Amino acid sequence: MTWLITGGAGYIGAHVARVMRDAGERVVALDDLSAGVPARLPADVPLIEGSTLDGGLLKRVFAEYEVTGVVHLAARKQVAESVAQPTRYYRENVGGLATLLEAVAEAGIGKFLFSSSAAVYGNPDVDLITEDTPCAPVNPYGETKLTGEWLVRAAGRTHGISTVCLRYFNVAGAAAPELADTGVFNIVPMVFDRLTRDEAPRIFGDDYPTPDGTCIRDYIHVADLAEAHLAAARRLADRSGDLTVNIGRGEGVSVRELITVIGEVTGDRRPALVEARRPGDAPRAVASAARAAEELGWTARRGVREMVASAWQGWLLHHGR
Ligand SMILES: NC(=O)c1ccc[n+]([C@@H]2O[C@H](COP(=O)([O-])OP(=O)(O)OC[C@H]3O[C@@H](n4cnc5c(N)ncnc54)[C@H](O)[C@@H]3O)[C@@H](O)[C@H]2O)c1
Repeated sequence: MTWLITGGAGYIGAHVARVMRDAGERVVALDDLSAGVPARLPADVPLIEGSTLDGGLLKRVFAEYEVTGVVHLAARKQVAESVAQPTRYYRENVGGLATLLEAVAEAGIGKFLFSSSAAVYGNPDVDLITEDTPCAPVNPYGETKLTGEWLVRAAGRTHGISTVCLRYFNVAGAAAPELADTGVFNIVPMVFDRLTRDEAPRIFGDDYPTPDGTCIRDYIHVADLAEAHLAAARRLADRSGDLTVNIGRGEGVSVRELITVIGEVTGDRRPALVEARRPGDAPRAVASAARAAEELGWTARRGVREMVASAWQGWLLHHGR
């Protein structure tokens, strides 16, 4: 049994490849290297350079490696870029998925795991977001993830493919410094970037209806997230049907609390600057983690301090002080 991991040279994909391979699964990675880094993959995991939009290549890879399951992470993931280039996001994220699912169906592959996102929910006004909270994405990136889920479930039903959609919340940290996210698109690297430039971290709005006035999010360590993929892959191996599940810790952390932890870890405790709210930021977005525990037997183990400390080691390796 071999798993194809698309986006396997990416930040999350490389963590998933390592965890699955360490657990004894046979894995092969496919990545177009638009954002991937081959050195993130262990030497014994083959990397095929190519796109999910290339149906002929997918067919050859499935045959050559006798692929029996797919973990599909390859996607573009920047919200602002998706607003600027919606057709590109639909073409690559949804079109790439459609091409992949056609090849999967044709090859008779029966297991498919899809990287979805909390972005499918938009900004719901609830204490804990469950998988039954209505989906109302607020940008093209989130729309491509929701459309992707529909496509995965529809293809699964028609072609008899067992499917799992994992809706990740805010991913942070690294299992090893060389696996860290090198982009500066999420809050943790954005704060590191400010400190490295000798500038104070920024808080966008401290007048939200939350205990300290700053936005609350659910942060999940990428090593925990990778273990959730292994749990989902194992479930796919012995259960059919489809499952959609939140991947978070079920615990909210405010921006101010996060910046305090970053100050403790980096030793740079300068006070944050409070600026105006950004349009579209929800006051609170925290997962209900109950279904993941029940259906996957998986619960996050690592806390925010561990995420920040491991991300900082990665930052120092890639960017210096
Ligand atoms: N990082 C997060 O916080 C987060 C949160 C929710 C969901 N996700 C989803 O997780 C997945 C992985 O995200 P990541 O943070 O590792 O991003 P990443 O950019 O590091 O990884 C994506 C990888 O896919 C590759 N890729 C992109 N388009 C491709 C294509 N058409 N064919 C082949 N390879 C392609 C890129 O080169 C890259 O290596 C994405 O689907 C993303 O939307 C990420």
